[in-house]
Amino acid sequence: MKTSIVSLKARQIWDSRGRPTVEAEVRLAGGATGRAIAPAGASRGAHEAVDLRDGGPRFGGMGVEGAVAAVNGALARALEGRDAADQAGVDTAIVTADGTANKARLGANATVATSMAVLHAAAAAAGEPLWRHLAGGRDVRLPLPEIQIFGGGAHAGRRTDIQDFMVMAPHAGSVRRALEITADVYRAAGEMMAGRGRLAGTADEGGWWPSFDSNEEALVALTEAIERAGYRPGREVWISLDVAANELFDGSAYRLPLDKAALDSAAMVERVVGWSERYAIASIEDPVSQDDLTGMADATRRLGRRVQMIGDDILVTSAGRIRRIAAAGACNAALIKVNQAGTVSEAKGALDAAQDLGWAAIVSARSGESEDLTIAHLATGWDAGQLKVGSFARSERMAKWNELLRIEEAMGERAHFAGADALPASVAARIRSEGP
Ligand code: PGA
Ligand code: ZN
Repeated sequence: MKTSIVSLKARQIWDSRGRPTVEAEVRLAGGATGRAIAPAGASRGAHEAVDLRDGGPRFGGMGVEGAVAAVNGALARALEGRDAADQAGVDTAIVTADGTANKARLGANATVATSMAVLHAAAAAAGEPLWRHLAGGRDVRLPLPEIQIFGGGAHAGRRTDIQDFMVMAPHAGSVRRALEITADVYRAAGEMMAGRGRLAGTADEGGWWPSFDSNEEALVALTEAIERAGYRPGREVWISLDVAANELFDGSAYRLPLDKAALDSAAMVERVVGWSERYAIASIEDPVSQDDLTGMADATRRLGRRVQMIGDDILVTSAGRIRRIAAAGACNAALIKVNQAGTVSEAKGALDAAQDLGWAAIVSARSGESEDLTIAHLATGWDAGQLKVGSFARSERMAKWNELLRIEEAMGERAHFAGADALPASVAARIRSEGP
């Protein structure tokens, strides 16, 4: 069979933070090949699949010799001879070979690189770009980008408590136009920071390194940057936040050092509700910590009709968790990170669970990335509706945005930008009624 896996091998390469990561390469009997690179998070949820790191003194303990050996050994043995066109079968074999609930034995860095490499090889064997191979003849939408302007939290020495200050252009009509609008806002924000003597470089995902005296000052600055770029906040351009509140919770309180505040769950929700009332915010991710189900349900009840409420660390790309947390009335959208699950099929299962609930979904990069383009294809081919990659700088980010432009061009007349429709229905209705 042309799509039988004849070889699987891995190598250690380097990610966007200069840390070791795993690249896997698959060859099929018919000669097709596929290659993929594992990304790596910095603000990770406790419930996500875990990367295998060597520990010890080399590379700050971040080495991946063990994970590379897991691909070349256990995973190669489990997959050689299998049909790459049967992604579900391949991923089941990966899960079985690992045998743990969280990929702790072989490492999610080993399994995700392998699973995605097989997917690429299957698309190559079919002679199709990956997005089209995944779409399988369905009409799919180009995702609405969520793009970071200021990067804070664990990605910028905790210079702000909020991790991501992002923008969305739901009325842009195309990826091409959405990226042009973002370029204008990103440049305006940089010029503004420079003009105030506060430009201090860029954070891990390429957003401007934040230099503010409170979290709210960053929201004011983002609003000003949108206006300075010639757009109206809450019309053409909307704000999206990833609070990443896991990183703020110390076990007893949410600590926001920039605001000199220690908040309980109710007060944390109150603070986020206040920001939503004062700024053009259409989306909020992780406003409370990964185990604060009450807080997330409270925030969703208060804001969920007007604001997309995304679960990242609370859902960790797990279909089971998505269903459980939905039953508690928390979240109306799921972040989908393939490496939180560890295989392509498990991540797709989480996406399907979210969409079956009527939720929105956002395929997402990690803060540690590479030239790997897989997520641009997944967001499009799976018709997820949204894509979050980080900022509008640094080639590990721009590579994904640029790939979306190529996909948009390849779709030609049939290109359809998801826009506001990608958001939860009531949020989409709000955005359509208030703008552009
Ligand atoms: P991470 O952060 O990749 O550092 O975990 C990204 C996010 O929180 O969405
Ligand atoms: Zn997040």
